[in-house]
Amino acid sequence: MAASLQLNFKPLKPRLLHAKPASKTAPKFSSIRCSAATPSKSYTLTLLPGDGIGPEVISVAKNALQLVGSLEGIEFKFKEMPMGGAALDLTGVPLPEETLSAAKESDAVLLGAIGGYKWDNNEKHLKPETGLLQLRAGLQVFANLRPATVLPQLVDASTLKKEVAEGVDLMVVRELTGGIYFGKPRGFGKNENGEETGFNTEVYAANEIDRIARVAFETARKRRGKLCSVDKANVLERRVDEECDGGGGRRRRRGKRTMVVAEKKRTENNANMLTFSVIEWLVLQTQCGEGDVCIHFMLFLIFPIGQSTTNVNLLIECAALLCDNGQASMLWRKIVTNIASEFPDVELSHMYVDNAAMQLVRNPKQFDTIVTNNIFGDILSDEASMITGSIGMLPSASLGASGPGLFEPIHGSAPDIAGQDKANPLATVLSAAMLLKYGLGEEKAAQRIEAAVLDALDRGYRTGDIYSTGLKLVGCKEMGEEVLKSIDSKVAAAV
Ligand code: IPM
Ligand code: MG
Repeated sequence: MAASLQLNFKPLKPRLLHAKPASKTAPKFSSIRCSAATPSKSYTLTLLPGDGIGPEVISVAKNALQLVGSLEGIEFKFKEMPMGGAALDLTGVPLPEETLSAAKESDAVLLGAIGGYKWDNNEKHLKPETGLLQLRAGLQVFANLRPATVLPQLVDASTLKKEVAEGVDLMVVRELTGGIYFGKPRGFGKNENGEETGFNTEVYAANEIDRIARVAFETARKRRGKLCSVDKANVLERRVDEECDGGGGRRRRRGKRTMVVAEKKRTENNANMLTFSVIEWLVLQTQCGEGDVCIHFMLFLIFPIGQSTTNVNLLIECAALLCDNGQASMLWRKIVTNIASEFPDVELSHMYVDNAAMQLVRNPKQFDTIVTNNIFGDILSDEASMITGSIGMLPSASLGASGPGLFEPIHGSAPDIAGQDKANPLATVLSAAMLLKYGLGEEKAAQRIEAAVLDALDRGYRTGDIYSTGLKLVGCKEMGEEVLKSIDSKVAAAV
């Protein structure tokens, strides 16, 4: 991974190139590059165009990569694989094994977008989104970096007042392979009235919080040195001792180390229920001895009393299992706070997620780096994107401790404009820049792409989502061509 970020990721070793002719699919501008450097490095990139506007934006990003590659002496070998709805139609699964293997074997992965109306009603395991989660889990990319920067060229595209949006430059560090997206138990059931119930589990082991917090501190250290950890500790992460005084609580102990707090409720029709929900919620925590760490997780569940013994026992087992596995776990806030002492140069603050959502539109400039869990990160990064003018501008990088990173725009597949040459390709082009920087350590090539995007905007080119009167409205392809021209002209200027 990029040495520049120093996130304790294993750097990729640039490999020597076996001389190979330029790709036949090289963009037209690369063919007029007389200053092109002789390739000295070669990388294999897996491209996952996916669905909707995915193929259109990936094609633009691929051209940009090829052009900067030819200028920087880098050869890219592209391997295009099906993913999401496209893979479902082709193979019956959203992430075919071949796609995951190709991704794992490559140096980095660039994804367009997945999903569409056609597959919306599929069963869970046959949804395009499930394929994306499988890919993230398969590549073990736990750290998702989502920058949101208001470019001076686009400040008028923001829905916020100019004085509020101007100068915003923040980074959301989202935990990507844990929490409620992956937590178990999960599923569907029925309550005693025969009503359907759905449940998911928000669970984090200490090491998962620890590693994402470290990435966030390192990221903040390289930015403006401010880190805001976003959680919902006032509801989701209270200590057992505070909780037990709440009245009506029922305790069950298992040895000294496990404690479950549940609440027994009467429903309207007088049926006994154990109610585990967000509002009337159940906290499960283990209370460990001195020196041990606490395990805690919260469940959104409703169980009929008839099953309560089995279910409560199951939950106790889960907690005990985590404890027995030595998966030291603490409150998100507590772990982040503990790590802060190792980063005295970073100013740490905490914020509840509801307040953070409000502060992002009230005064977004107060934020530098935000670290948060999977689901809060999903929501806050979409919100942050609107400050910048359009979600069509925002790239992301997902990194693991080793292996290839996954790079993708944070926008979706926009099926309403798919195939109409209306999509904004810049988020994907900027994701390609993140791929170069964080995935391959090719900082100079990344800078070429970033500078070219700014240049194309400076020259007044805009796709519909960022258009304002007086500027040049272009489609996806033309925007791509303007970016290539900018990459070209930067070279010409430098020669
Ligand atoms: C994102 C998306 C995904 C997520 C969906 C498509 C599964 O919203 O990358 O933000 O929820 O993580
Ligand atoms: Mg999202």
